[in-house]
Amino acid sequence: MAELTIRLERKKDYRKVEELTREAFWNVYKPGADEHYYVHMMREHPDFIPLLDYVLELDGRIVGSIMYTKARLEDEQGETKEIISLGPLCVAPEFQRKKLGKLLIEHSFDTARAMGYDVNINFGNPGNYVSRGFVSCRKKNVSYMVKGNFPTALLVCELVPGALDGRSWMYVPSTAADCCEDTAAVEAFDRTFPPKEKAWRPSQEEFYIYSHSSVVR
Ligand SMILES: CC(C)(COP(=O)(O)OP(=O)(O)OC[C@H]1O[C@@H](n2cnc3c(N)ncnc32)[C@H](O)[C@@H]1OP(=O)(O)O)[C@@H](O)C(=O)NCCC(=O)NCCS
Repeated sequence: MAELTIRLERKKDYRKVEELTREAFWNVYKPGADEHYYVHMMREHPDFIPLLDYVLELDGRIVGSIMYTKARLEDEQGETKEIISLGPLCVAPEFQRKKLGKLLIEHSFDTARAMGYDVNINFGNPGNYVSRGFVSCRKKNVSYMVKGNFPTALLVCELVPGALDGRSWMYVPSTAADCCEDTAAVEAFDRTFPPKEKAWRPSQEEFYIYSHSSVVR
C-alpha cells in the first residue's frame, strides 16, 4: 500500500511542482503548456492563497498539486463577495483517474470552508468537475463580462449550500493568470526545462469548444 499524504507546498517543492504541472498540462489545452509558468508567477501575486496551496505525495513523491487565487463576485447594487478560484489542479499523467484529483479538491474545500469561504468558481472542462458538485454558472446566475453571458466552462461550486441566493452576480477573476499573456516570458521559462515536443491533441479542440461557447437556455 502506497503512503498518501496531502500537505501544504513548501518552498523546496516549487520546482518539483512546476515540473509536475508542465508534465500534466503538456499538449492538453494547447500545443505545449503555460500552466507551469502561471504556477511559478502566481505564488507572488497578492491573490494567491498560500493556505490552499497543497501537494499530494505518494511514498514521498509529489504527484498532485492544487492551488487557488482569491476572486470576487459583484452584484447589481455594487455589493462584492470574496470567493476562491481553483487552479491549476493537476495529477501526474501516470496517476490520473485514480481519484487523487478528487482527494485534492475535497481536502482543499474542507480547509476553504474552515477559512470562511463559501463559493468556488473557476473555468475548466466540465467533465473534470461536474461529479465534484460543480454546476454551470447559469444555474447560479453568475455572468462573466456581460450580464447574461454564461460561458460553458465557467463552473460554480457552493462550498456551503445556498451560499449564492439567486441574485445576479458578475464573476471578476484574479489578474494572476494575466502573466501568461507574455508568451516570450512563458517560452523563456519553458526553456529552463528539458525540451519537450509540442503536438496537437483532440483535447485541444474540446477545450476550444468549451472556452468559446455559452449556455444560453
Ligand atoms: C484533471 C485532473 C486534475 C483530474 O485528476 P484525476 O486524479 O485524474 O481525477 P479523479 O480520478 O479524481 O476524477 C476523475 C473524474 O474526472 C471525470 N473524467 C473525465 N474524463 C474522464 C476519463 N476519461 N476517465 C475517467 N474519468 C474522467 C470523471 O468525472 C471522474 O470522476 P468520477 O469517476 O468520480 O465521476 C487530472 O486528470 C489532470 O491533471 N489533468 C491534466 C491537467 C488538467 O486538465 N487539470 C485541470 C484543469 S481544468
